[in-house]
This record gives sequence, structure tokens and C-alpha cells, in this order.
Amino acid sequence: MSELIGAAVPVHIAIIMDGNGRWATRRGLPRTLGHREGAETLKRVARYCKDIGVGYLTVYAFSTENWKRPGDEVSGIIRLLRHYINTFESDPERDRIRVNFIGDIETLNADVQRDFRSISERTRGNRDAINLTIAFNYGARDEIVRAARKAAALAAQGELVPEQLDEAMLSGLLDTRAMPDPDLLIRAGAESRISNFMLWQLAYTELYFTDTLWPDFRDADIDAAVAAYAARQRRFGGLSTGRGGGS
Ligand code: FPP
Repeated sequence: MSELIGAAVPVHIAIIMDGNGRWATRRGLPRTLGHREGAETLKRVARYCKDIGVGYLTVYAFSTENWKRPGDEVSGIIRLLRHYINTFESDPERDRIRVNFIGDIETLNADVQRDFRSISERTRGNRDAINLTIAFNYGARDEIVRAARKAAALAAQGELVPEQLDEAMLSGLLDTRAMPDPDLLIRAGAESRISNFMLWQLAYTELYFTDTLWPDFRDADIDAAVAAYAARQRRFGGLSTGRGGGS
């Protein structure tokens, strides 16, 4: 187990799981096999994050832009996620994870929505569990637009005076209302972009980019990211000099 226990472990880690396609292509395999390996990596990472005391793990599984990919790749990712959900009962981790979804879920097929609801309800009561949030059909701008629409609807019904709308209220209208903002964002796969992921919530998050492709990501990569996080000073725009750990 990690020597990180007791160190400044982030409460909330967000991950952009990039590089599945390149991992597969380099091996002469179909991209879908890269996603399958990526799903295995996610299981290991969730287990490890739970072990080192992370409270929330939020992963970008499918963006609102990913529908532009070839149909067989899209259906492969959806099938994989449903397989992950449907085999959850036999997963040794099932009592240590609370699963949730963010994104525009209501526009997905009814059977996909049913699977999402089923695993959320099945795991809701898990005590002492890590909160695994899967961003699916998610785009940060879309999330903010949906929140703005809710606020506009409240105003139109006379339930909200525009001047009442502040940061806390808008946060409460986002998909992430029940969780703290991420302390650390990790992006695997050798790109240095945010790619429309949690734009509002990442305002003060420490960013960590690594060349490691997501299917190659191991416990040691989490250790390296958390160590980099712990060594940084978080000031939230002020002058405090505490190191890591959400100071
Ligand atoms: C980015 O790699 C990855 C995705 C778009 C999909 C991520 C999905 C998974 C890890 C599997 C989902 C399963 C579960 C259980 C949540 P890419 O295809 O953009 O890689 P590339 O940049 O190398 O082409």
C-alpha cells in the first residue's frame, strides 16, 4: 500500500481518461479494445483511490462531443459502461463504491438511463465508500446552460429575483451540486487541455498532466500526481502558504 497515507491526499480527484484509442492503435488493435482496457484501469484506480483515502473520484467517460465518433466506437463505449454496471453485483468492490452520474442523462435511451439509476440506487446506501461519479454525455458548457435554464425558469415563475442569483445558487443548480469541487485534476494521454470538463468546478483545482496513456495508468501514477499536488501551494487567490491538502 502507498506511503501516501497520512499525507495531503486530495478529497476530490477528477480524471480525464485519455489515450485509450492510441494505446490500442499502437498495438494494432481496434480502438474499442483500448476502451475495454481503460475500463479495467478505472476499476483499479477507483480501488486504489479508496485505499489512500480519496473521498470523491470523478471521471470523464463520454463527452457531448464524443457522439461525433464512428457509430461502432460510440456503441462500444456505451456497451462497455453497461457491462460494467451490470456485472457490478459480482465485483469485490461493490460495497466500497457509491456510483453516480453527471451529464445530460435524460436524453439518453431509456434502457441506459435505467441501468444508471439501478447502480446509483444499489450503491447509495454504501457506507464508508468512495463516491465514483461518471461523467457521461457530459459537457461543462452544456451543464452551465442547463443550470442557467433552470434559473431562468425559476425567475419566469416568480420564484427567483435575478439579483438573488449568486455563485452558491448557481453551483446548486449544476449536476455536481452534491459534491465539493475537485482538488486535483489528472489528465492522462499527453494532452494539456481541459476539453470542456467541469469548467466551473475547476476554478481553483490543481492541474496535473501526464504522458501516460490511460490504459497504462497504474497506482504509481496516482502516487506521482498526489505527490505533485501535495507539494504545491494552494492560495485560492489569497496569500496563505499552506501546502497541498486544500489549505
Ligand atoms: C478517451 O480516449 C477516452 C474516452 C473517450 C472514453 C473513456 C471510456 C472509458 C475509459 C471506458 C468507459 C467505461 C467505464 C466503465 C466508465 P480516446 O479514445 O480519446 O483516446 P485517443 O486520444 O488515444 O484517441
